[in-house]
Amino acid sequence: MNIAIFVSGRGSNLKAILNDPDLKEIIKVIAVVSDKFDCKAFEIAHEFGIETYIIGDGDNKINAEQLTKKLLDLNVSLIVLAGYLKLIPDVLIKSFVNRMINIHPALLPSFGGKGMYGINVHKAVFESSAKVSGATVHLVDSSYDTGKIIAQQCVDISDVASPEEIAERVLKIEHQILPEVIKAFALNKIKIVSNRIEIIKE
Ligand code: GAR
Repeated sequence: MNIAIFVSGRGSNLKAILNDPDLKEIIKVIAVVSDKFDCKAFEIAHEFGIETYIIGDGDNKINAEQLTKKLLDLNVSLIVLAGYLKLIPDVLIKSFVNRMINIHPALLPSFGGKGMYGINVHKAVFESSAKVSGATVHLVDSSYDTGKIIAQQCVDISDVASPEEIAERVLKIEHQILPEVIKAFALNKIKIVSNRIEIIKE
């Protein structure tokens, strides 16, 4: 299965996907897309010899329509947003219905929405005094963090002293849960039953 990964920054989730031994057998990361030229994630993509694209208008960029066509031409079956922080253009959403997923560093539907990314999320969780946080993988629709939830895992944060400490604990979970969901997609184990998403276990 060919997949495209969208990134905006450090790329640790991208790296976790690329280094997952099971995934290596069943998926090919065929494109890495960003809204920025100078993100660390692009360095990782280049190390792995993966083609990179910058979404936008202007020199050396690819607009949303062109990118959609490119990804369809490349036979991309799944788009993974791994730390991509911009809203996805409608043309892409419409072409990849139920085939685009996002990782969010908290337990949705809490602590999501516009502006809730990276450390902002962990600060809000810390200030709420919540005792658990976690990671959520969900389908992407046309607004921030509202698509149906595919998988979640929580972590105890009752003893943390800072938002950074929450981020560290949650990131470890992200690196497990995102490859697992991609694996389930590749093995055709994601089903929609009674308007809920289930991962078929065998
Ligand atoms: C991850 O924690 C991801 O969950 C978060 O950005 C970070 C990217 O890290 N995404 C969001 O906050 C989306 N709302 P990475 O570049 O090292 O994978």
